[in-house]
Amino acid sequence: MSQSDSDTESDAAPSADAAGAQPGDATASAGEPEVPVADDEEVVLRTKDLTKFFGAIEAVRDVSLDVNADEILAIAGDNGAGKTTFIKMLSGVLEPTRGEIFLRQDGRLERQYFSSSKDAMDAGIATVYQGQHLSPTASAANNIFLGMEPLRDGPEGWLLRRVDDEYMIGESRKLLADIGFDFDPRTPVDELSGGQKQAVAVARALIRDPPIIVLDEPTSEVSTTGTDKIIDLVRGIPDGEKSVILISHKIDVVVDVADRIAVMRDGEVVEVLDTQRDDVARMDIVERMHRERER
Ligand SMILES: Nc1ncnc2c1ncn2[C@@H]1O[C@H](COP(=O)(O)OP(=O)(O)OP(=O)(O)O)[C@@H](O)[C@H]1O
Ligand SMILES: [Mg+2]
Repeated sequence: MSQSDSDTESDAAPSADAAGAQPGDATASAGEPEVPVADDEEVVLRTKDLTKFFGAIEAVRDVSLDVNADEILAIAGDNGAGKTTFIKMLSGVLEPTRGEIFLRQDGRLERQYFSSSKDAMDAGIATVYQGQHLSPTASAANNIFLGMEPLRDGPEGWLLRRVDDEYMIGESRKLLADIGFDFDPRTPVDELSGGQKQAVAVARALIRDPPIIVLDEPTSEVSTTGTDKIIDLVRGIPDGEKSVILISHKIDVVVDVADRIAVMRDGEVVEVLDTQRDDVARMDIVERMHRERER
């Protein structure tokens, strides 16, 4: 897609600046030759040269990116930059053409081989797409608990496999309230607003308690007030244990909530901005997203 630009090299390990001599070195040398740099303990997910070609289209090329514990990492980029393709590899939907994915498991970064979204989910990466997989005629509560419905106590549960609806509704109500939404979890999904549907999708990811939550355009198709709520919700997810990968076209949203912003252009990560450290302005990001193209 693009010719190799000169800044590719410097992006090989975007957060390696903080690495140096880390105590994690011992782990890195213990039979993990694939881990390219010191295993700094902040990192919960690492990609190394992750690449996806669709025939001649280089959708994602050599993306090496770290996600740290307890942070919101945003991925910004123009249409077609490769954002969705990148996260589809993280969520097991697409198999990489080459490159590696590592996740922190039992204290060390372990290489992952996902052959389905279930594999990624089981490994701790939950991905929320817009309205993804929600069953429109089922209730919000049923959607949230899909595949993990609690059974009633006693023989009704273990013998007759009756689902404990009351528990499910109560827990759904609590979870939705936790993320700032107050509607009846018995409502069928197709009667909910865009923002409420998005809340159901996020609640469904959260209830599985994954360490990493990926949100692809969580605020598209959502009203302005809905957007504010979703953003508050996203902001509240890192609770010391959870990390978020957020994809959004809304640069203001990204600048507002993200701890770091990876800018993608033509399949590559061209820059990783730290919103705590760098004085990141909206225009900087837009400019970085488009730089090559406009010359
Ligand atoms: N299944 C596919 N087959 C062929 N090409 C694809 C496929 N999926 C994506 N692409 C191409 O890969 C490139 C990256 O697409 P991708 O959807 O990852 O971009 P994106 O950054 O998510 O864009 P948007 O902001 O529009 O969602 C585009 O050129 C796209 O046309
Ligand atoms: Mg996309």
